[in-house]
This record gives sequence, C-alpha cells and structure tokens, in this order.
Amino acid sequence: STILVLHGPNLNMLGSREPEIYGSETLADINQRLQTTASELGHHLQTLQSNAEYELIDRIHDAKHEEVDFIIINPAAFTHTSVALRDALLAVEIPFIEIHLSNVHTREAFRHHSYFSDVAVGVICGLGSQGYDLALAAALKQLN
Ligand code: DQA
Repeated sequence: STILVLHGPNLNMLGSREPEIYGSETLADINQRLQTTASELGHHLQTLQSNAEYELIDRIHDAKHEEVDFIIINPAAFTHTSVALRDALLAVEIPFIEIHLSNVHTREAFRHHSYFSDVAVGVICGLGSQGYDLALAAALKQLN
C-alpha cells in the first residue's frame, strides 16, 4: 500500500526549532526512519513538508489520483486555522491520522482546538517523533 506523510508549516525547522518542545531530531531523520520501516514491510511511503497551505491541499488532491491509501498528517499551525485543509481531506475521502509532536492540550488555549480531530481516524499528540512511528504502525494495521 501507499502512505503519504504530510508535514505543515515550520516543521522544516525541526532540530533547531524550540528543541525543548519539539525535540532535537530533524525532519529528514524522521522521514528517513518512516521510509525504512515502510519499505522493509513492502509498502510505499511518500513525504511532503510545506509552509504553503495550497501546496498541502494540492498534494492531497493528487493523492486521490495516485491511489494513496492512507495519510499521516501533522498540520502544525494549520491545525488550528485551516478549514481548507480539512475540506481537502474530506473531499478525497482518504483516511488519515492527525499527529502532533507536542501535547497541544498542555499548551496555549489556541492550540486546544483542531479542525481535523473530529474527522480523523485517530489523533496522536505529545509523544514526540515516536508519534509518527506509532501512526505508521496503526495505518498499516488498518490497511491489512
Ligand atoms: C504541532 C503543534 C502546533 O500547535 C504547532 O503550531 C506546530 C507543531 C506539533 O507537532 O506539536 O507547528 O503540530
């Protein structure tokens, strides 16, 4: 099966961005690990990070034609703002898991609401980059 991993704005800064909150691993480290796990298990995994909302939306639209089976998405700050990204995920009808490195519920009140959680298969937050590995395992189990 084919899994698409999407990373929202500022996640290209992982490693140097507020490491006490987001950890010291880079996005390349995380993507590489997911890629290795997926290919060892005989699956395809694609990744995209973008700081632009329309690029993430266009990638989700393309995922439908590419027959992507499952999406893992950290919408980052778009979590709290983007009806458009939510609508894109609903439009393509591809199941997805929402993930956050930090526990958004222990942070500022504006991070407590997500435009994605009520339409996600599941939500993982607060477990750092391990959340991506757990999301991948859950996605692959769902697809089996
Ligand atoms: C985040 C949490 C968001 O509130 C924040 O805007 C991010 C990252 C996380 O992974 O913890 O950019 O999605």
